[in-house]
Amino acid sequence: MADDSIGAYAPTPADRFTFGLWTVGNRGRDPFGFETRPALDPVDAVYALADLGAFGVNFHDDDLVPFGSTAGEREAIMKRFRRALDDTGLRVPMATTNLFSQPVFKEGAFTANDPAVRRYAVAKTLDSIDMGVELGASVYVMWGGREGCECDAAKDVRLALDRYKEAVDLCCAYVRDRGYDVRFALEPKPNEPRGDILLPTVGHALAFVHALEWPEMVGLNPEFAHETMSGLSFHHGVAQTLWAEKLFHIDLNAQRIGKYDQDFRFGSEGIRDAFYTVKLLEDAGWDGSRHFDAHAYRTESIDGVWDFARGCMRTYLMLRDKVARFHADPEIQAALEVAQVARIADPTSPGGLGADAITALRAGPHDVAALAEVGYGLERLDQLVTELLLGTR
Ligand code: GCO
Ligand code: MN
Ligand code: MN
Repeated sequence: MADDSIGAYAPTPADRFTFGLWTVGNRGRDPFGFETRPALDPVDAVYALADLGAFGVNFHDDDLVPFGSTAGEREAIMKRFRRALDDTGLRVPMATTNLFSQPVFKEGAFTANDPAVRRYAVAKTLDSIDMGVELGASVYVMWGGREGCECDAAKDVRLALDRYKEAVDLCCAYVRDRGYDVRFALEPKPNEPRGDILLPTVGHALAFVHALEWPEMVGLNPEFAHETMSGLSFHHGVAQTLWAEKLFHIDLNAQRIGKYDQDFRFGSEGIRDAFYTVKLLEDAGWDGSRHFDAHAYRTESIDGVWDFARGCMRTYLMLRDKVARFHADPEIQAALEVAQVARIADPTSPGGLGADAITALRAGPHDVAALAEVGYGLERLDQLVTELLLGTR
């Protein structure tokens, strides 16, 4: 790839871009075809990501230490990986557990009907938390890929949620007991690999957090593809998560509504929602990692994988630049005025919630006819945003 990434849109660690080992290490296997790329050594991934200007790398336990490794093998792998991190300055801000690949989890992990499976899932997670903490992770993602069912007769969802809560509470209790500086981020997804997955959307997950023993330790990791698969607005989901002060992590990628779980390069589909997401994160001054949970097309060799990684970061930076232009553009600002955008900050009842205030609010005057006549100029505003995104302003 020509190095025009070295220029206005060249990422640096200050931009806080992260990738998972499983993202750049994705080998292109899909339900219909075998791997098209060789395995990527996690250490090579670290050097390549650092070279590209990323801030960090995240992993599932099994991405780094293959399932079934001995304690000695684990130590050797960790040492080698840590050396690469020290060498490059790349960080590990987040870690997670693979509770979905092994056959033992076919009926669920934290919510499997068999308590023995659940106990193993929690034990594997605690081991994996230790590994993440050892490498500096302070966010622990929980994606319950197998927590769900196809046969509704076989799953009591209310009891499964009790067990889900119990597992998350156990992990929180462990972290508290160890004195780790770790917060958990639940990642909602509606389906794939299960027919239906528990905690399918941001809304379900936010409600669940409040039932937990230590709700302050648990937030969300919303993913672009997951809300979009449900036909929902990712940008709105992230906004509500921020509003609830629960945005602990974010998974950026691209997805078209109604399609299989695509995990495309950020911005390759849904560019408007991508723009509004970047605008939201930047306007809110959110300081978490901009994590890309996506992978290169199956057509790509390793060069294409690095094109994919560059593309995710470059698109984010271009959209961030568009956000700055949005705020600086006098016509857009005038259109926002016409749309009365800033006025939503005014309270509906300036006098508060008291009975007098409610009486005053109710008494009006309410000039319904005049209010109904107002035009908001949204056709013009929306077109201005389109022109901004298409590069004509
Ligand atoms: C998916 C998920 C996963 C999780 C990852 C982190 O659709 O497969 O997005 O990639 O994000 O397991 O826990
Ligand atoms: Mn996903
Ligand atoms: Mn994800």
